[in-house]
Amino acid sequence: MAKILAGVGTSHVPAIGAALDSGKADEPYWQPVFAGYKKSKQWLKELNPDVVILVYNDHANAFGLDVVPTFALGIADEYAPADEGWGPRPVPVVKGHFELARHLGTSLIFAHFDMAIINEMVVDHGLTVPLSLMCGQPQEWPFKVVPLCVNVVQYPPPTGARCFELGRAIRKAVEAYHEDLKVVVFGTGGMSHQLHGERAGIINREWDNRFLDDLTADPLRLTKIPHTEYIRETGAEGVETVMWLIMRGALDDQVKEVHRHYHVPASNTALGHIILENV
Ligand code: DHB
Ligand code: FE
Repeated sequence: MAKILAGVGTSHVPAIGAALDSGKADEPYWQPVFAGYKKSKQWLKELNPDVVILVYNDHANAFGLDVVPTFALGIADEYAPADEGWGPRPVPVVKGHFELARHLGTSLIFAHFDMAIINEMVVDHGLTVPLSLMCGQPQEWPFKVVPLCVNVVQYPPPTGARCFELGRAIRKAVEAYHEDLKVVVFGTGGMSHQLHGERAGIINREWDNRFLDDLTADPLRLTKIPHTEYIRETGAEGVETVMWLIMRGALDDQVKEVHRHYHVPASNTALGHIILENV
């Protein structure tokens, strides 16, 4: 039987990928960003998962604004890094877990989550930056990935409550999969950030840290936060953080916080990161 062992929340700031790819990770600006993932990389290596279900959003790279799926599941053997305007990132092709993904697609739709199915897709910084942060720069990614895309770009994104329930359905589906697989769920995006307009650069450390506290202790409070609060308190793109609730919903009610990292600035955003284990 497959089992979800843990969840990882992390921001996916594209400049982090650019810093790594251009050899700037040791520069004083970036060093504290990467220092907070040293323990995480070791932790993940020791856990050695077979598959990561990676919840993220595409930033109009794989999908344009012509098609905007609310929830979409990748069911393919591999996903190439997207060209986001300056060439694809020089990172390994992401290998999918076709059979688990197909099982998840069926199970989720039968559980009334009508996922869009993606048979071919490139993956942008939303997916590859978390892999780089958690795995460094390997020749091959050390596990297979099932990409789960969430629309947080075009209004209206799904509610936090719906995201949490989707996480619950993912857990059930994984536990019904026949093969012994160690699965970790990543929730990515956020935390405080707004990239445009008069409020560009808004950071709300207090709100972000309370979110991290309650992700462990009181996730049901977080499911009641409306989009307007994410946007008012943490900026327009801060609403990406809603995706972390899919990860949290896929874990047990009681979890152990293994690691946390919060750093400002990374680009002009706040970077948040947490590791939660089922106990
Ligand atoms: C930036 C872009 C993102 O998608 C994100 O989640 C954080 C920051 C940026 O362009 O800086
Ligand atoms: Fe983003």
